[in-house]
Formats: sequence, structure tokens, C-alpha cells
Amino acid sequence: MTDNEYGRIFSAFKGEEGDLIAILLRIQEKFGYISEDAVKHTAQFLRLSENQIYGVATFYSKFRFTEPGTTSIKVCMGTACHVHGGKLLSDAVGWKLGVSIGQVTEDRRFDFQRVNCLGCCALAPVVKINDRVHARMMVTGLEEILSRRE
Ligand code: FES
Repeated sequence: MTDNEYGRIFSAFKGEEGDLIAILLRIQEKFGYISEDAVKHTAQFLRLSENQIYGVATFYSKFRFTEPGTTSIKVCMGTACHVHGGKLLSDAVGWKLGVSIGQVTEDRRFDFQRVNCLGCCALAPVVKINDRVHARMMVTGLEEILSRRE
């Protein structure tokens, strides 16, 4: 991210401490995560320490601080999905890719996240792969999808 890109984002704000969350949301929306460089620039703009930025940002689970993988895999673990086998799906992804929830594979091809509800509980259990929601997913179907992407 260049100084110009930061400048464009910051130009929509007054530089007050209360702008922090909105700025971080814009940065993550644009780049997929909050880099160390982004924290440094945001700290300078808001005249806060980097520790203050991390202190606030890590409170919200929606912020991520590592670069996302190419393929995003989000296993829903909300109540409906959990009851219908979400944990089995989550375990299958972890086993197949060799990563834990919140991690990216070493080759950065897969990004494994857990979400609390994707808003389509009637289709449980669901897994979202990039922008596509896969309904009533079963372990075998999920493994097949992941194999096709390997
Ligand atoms: S609990 Fe999974 S979509 Fe709502």
C-alpha cells in the first residue's frame, strides 16, 4: 500500500481517535487485512501509538492481521450449522489442509476461517468458499471441492 493509498483513505476522516475503527474497516476492505505498515500509518494519522491501535483492533474479531490466502474457506459454526455437522466439516478442512482455524496454508493458497452464522441457517451446514455458499455440505463433498482446488 502506497502513501497515496493511505492518503486517499485518510482524507475521508478528520484524524480523530473516534475514526479508528472506520479507518481500519476501510483498510481491511481494500487490502483484505491490516498490515504492520497500515497500523504504523494509521497511528501517525491519528496521533496514537501502534500499541493503542492493536489494543483496539484485536478486541474485534473481524480484523485480521495476516495476509489472506487465495481461496477463502469459511466454515459456519453457528448453532444450526454446528447441530448439523459443522464441527465435522471444520475438522475435515483442518485435516485436509493441515491448518487450524484462522491460519493460512504455507503456500498461501487456502485461508481457513470459522464464522458464526452466514445468514442461511435453513441450508445448514454451510461452507462458504470464496463468494459461493455451499449448502447442506457433507465431509465427502467438501473434500472433493478442496481436492479440485489443490
Ligand atoms: S448457523 Fe450457519 S448459516 Fe446460520
